[in-house]
Amino acid sequence: MKIAVIGAGYVGLVSAACFAELGHEVVTVDMDKERVAQLRAGGVPIHEDLLPELLQRHRGKGLSFSTDIQAAFHFCDVAFICVGTPPSPNGDADLSFVEGVARELAFSLDRHKVIVEKSTVPVGTCEAVCRTMVLHGAHREDFSIASNPEFLREGTAVCDFLFPDRILLGVADEASREALTAIYAPILDGSYYKRTDSLAGPRNHEPKLIVTGVKSAELIKHASNAFLAMKISFINAVANVCEGVGADVREVVQGIGTDSRIGPKFLNPGIGYGGSCFPKDVLAFRSVAKSVGYDFSLLTEVMKVNNDQKLRFIDKVRNALWTLRGKKIAVLGLAFKGGTDDVRDSPALDIVQMLKAEGASIRAYDPAAMDRARGVLIDGTVSYAIDAYDACVGADAVLVLAEWKEFAELDLSRIRALLKLPIIIDGKNVLDPAAVRRAGLHYYGVGTEAEAPVVPATSARRAAAVTSSLSNSGALISASGD
Ligand code: NAD
Ligand code: UGA
Repeated sequence: MKIAVIGAGYVGLVSAACFAELGHEVVTVDMDKERVAQLRAGGVPIHEDLLPELLQRHRGKGLSFSTDIQAAFHFCDVAFICVGTPPSPNGDADLSFVEGVARELAFSLDRHKVIVEKSTVPVGTCEAVCRTMVLHGAHREDFSIASNPEFLREGTAVCDFLFPDRILLGVADEASREALTAIYAPILDGSYYKRTDSLAGPRNHEPKLIVTGVKSAELIKHASNAFLAMKISFINAVANVCEGVGADVREVVQGIGTDSRIGPKFLNPGIGYGGSCFPKDVLAFRSVAKSVGYDFSLLTEVMKVNNDQKLRFIDKVRNALWTLRGKKIAVLGLAFKGGTDDVRDSPALDIVQMLKAEGASIRAYDPAAMDRARGVLIDGTVSYAIDAYDACVGADAVLVLAEWKEFAELDLSRIRALLKLPIIIDGKNVLDPAAVRRAGLHYYGVGTEAEAPVVPATSARRAAAVTSSLSNSGALISASGD
């Protein structure tokens, strides 16, 4: 099949490389000239496991890159729209990139094409694309429009694409159904997994094909992301209760996750979900509900718990270090999660900004996201380390803010020797608390009983003096307000 993929970002580039891997001829279009030049020259613009291997395998053979959307559209039988759908200030999805593509496609329609919406969009967007194309001169009988939401995760995107749980097709006609089932046939009939050169994945994998109406498919994507975000906020809330009562959330997760109706996945508590999708998709889904008169207040609470989680983490840092002004803090992890260089809506960056606002100085390390973080933390007050150990030299505490595998494997005795104070605050529960303690460090995790604050002797004396003078002046009230 001849395919055009429009948008060479985290979804478009991975989809294009994987379509080529399945044996299709693919042109990937992006309006970002630098990105296209980089791709043509053999570069890989995003950090994604296995993507370099696939690009190398198919570049210049089944896979090419272009800035010319019209030429790509003339070449293809099926066009996948994979452009961004960022949030508008009011929470609605900003669909201007999608609309821009619809206009361009309308001008370039030379024979019947199937146009597939893969970006995450509010229900009704395929209909709007259709209307826009007709408004710009396309004949309705010359194109089909379908929805094929993407469920890949950054960091495991290639495997998620080639070994998906399900392939969801929202179709309104036979042409779309036929084209899309043909494109995904090597995954659906298992022939890809039998190839001697296929990428390694789970054994006996049998993805489910789900065919629905277009609107249901659009809604399934929003509902899936909102449900996953809710699951994370739920376990974060449970973790907060665990901290209060002295239970251990890891044990609790084991206990509830073994119920097959609940399942063990997406129950890792932490510093709140981030990234370019959950925050914007929960907002956009709530907006969709509002537009039809339903107040989806559950999603408001999901967002509130998520936001509070970062504030609770800052409280944990204060609890361990007392005041933050002048403290030197090592930060491990800047990406919105481990395994990616993406810092869009990264909770780690929010935490870094809050710590800086309280006067702490930050030395950070991330295996892949430091360049992108530099582009966001532009005031130059964060210094960047060459590795996790370098970040810890002379620090008052080390914070773990992304679930990179290499952080779970740190040499903790070496970390202990480098730190000024023996404090690890693990915002992602990636470390084994017992191993941390064996290395002589104080461990603060998420959802475990808090350790007693570690305040250095001099600060402790200062703290006692301040508390006593405030209490003598009557200025000190208890946190509960009693
Ligand atoms: P991205 O910002 O990384 O990539 C979008 C690309 O589209 C950019 O490179 C941009 O230059 C290009 N573009 C925009 N308008 C264009 C046009 N008119 N012609 C050609 N190129 C154009 O975004 P992303 O993370 O890949 O996400 C894309 C969509 O997929 C979003 O709707 C997102 O919600 C959804 N999605 C993302 C993920 C993920 O993990 N990132 C997973 C599933 C779904
Ligand atoms: C998420 C979904 O998992 C994908 O299915 C979906 O396709 C994608 O959004 C999308 O629509 O863009 P992604 O954002 O790449 O994928 O990453 P996740 O692994 O879902 O993590 C999202 C955030 O939740 C991260 O900040 C992560 O650290 C956090 N998280 C995840 C937790 O705090 N706990 C968990 O148990 C899982």
